[in-house]
Amino acid sequence: MKTLLINAHPDFNNPNHFSNQLQELFSSKYKSQFSENELTIFNLYALDTNLPRIEQNQLLKIWNKKIADEKLSADELKIAQVSEQLLTQFKAHHRLVIVSPLHNFNITSRLKDYIDNILIARETFRYLDSPDDKGKLSTGLMTNDYKALLLFASGSIYSDHEFYQNLDFAPQYLKMIFSEIMGFSDFEIVRAEGTAILPENQILDLAKENLDEAFKKFY
Ligand SMILES: Cc1cc2nc3c(=O)[nH]c(=O)nc-3n(C[C@H](O)[C@H](O)[C@H](O)COP(=O)(O)O)c2cc1C
Repeated sequence: MKTLLINAHPDFNNPNHFSNQLQELFSSKYKSQFSENELTIFNLYALDTNLPRIEQNQLLKIWNKKIADEKLSADELKIAQVSEQLLTQFKAHHRLVIVSPLHNFNITSRLKDYIDNILIARETFRYLDSPDDKGKLSTGLMTNDYKALLLFASGSIYSDHEFYQNLDFAPQYLKMIFSEIMGFSDFEIVRAEGTAILPENQILDLAKENLDEAFKKFY
């Protein structure tokens, strides 16, 4: 099953990080069931990864010029092409795995940049003329059996801690935009959490159990 794995860790090739260990657990499970060449790995922090950004001279200008039907400069055209390729790649995989650490209570900045290239009106969602019965002003266009799995590592425990639950917005943000905004039919979360306080084997044993469950729902 064609799967796009996005690694959003700045230190993506260091096996000591919990996120990367979750990726390894996922990859070996994947390879035991599917052909390895169906798994596309995209490292957002690789040196040769170029992610267009919402900035004055990048996507903002390109989008405004497209609306005004103005010609793009050669540099703008290159940026626009990279952005389109990201969108094409995203749509071509019906399974998406996101690997991310929690940094300063949020996803890493390149993951946000990546999302800015794929959360595009009339491509992955569309606006409605009037609110639906939930009050939503948009509807997802990624409704043809798309599913996402988040492999997420955090220093503290967020899933069942009264104080930290209120700070658990990074996974919630991802879950909402993929499920509610783009229309994915499932969004699973597997955590390695409490990495600053719990023994490594305890964290990974629980993560393995949760991954087994999530994997069954995912494929
Ligand atoms: C720059 C930075 C910021 C961090 N911010 C948080 C945070 O806000 N909350 C938290 O629980 N842990 C935080 N941590 C700890 C990481 O979430 C923890 O080390 C986790 O295991 C990261 O994943 P990794 O092991 O894959 O690097 C931070 C770590 C770094 C390096």
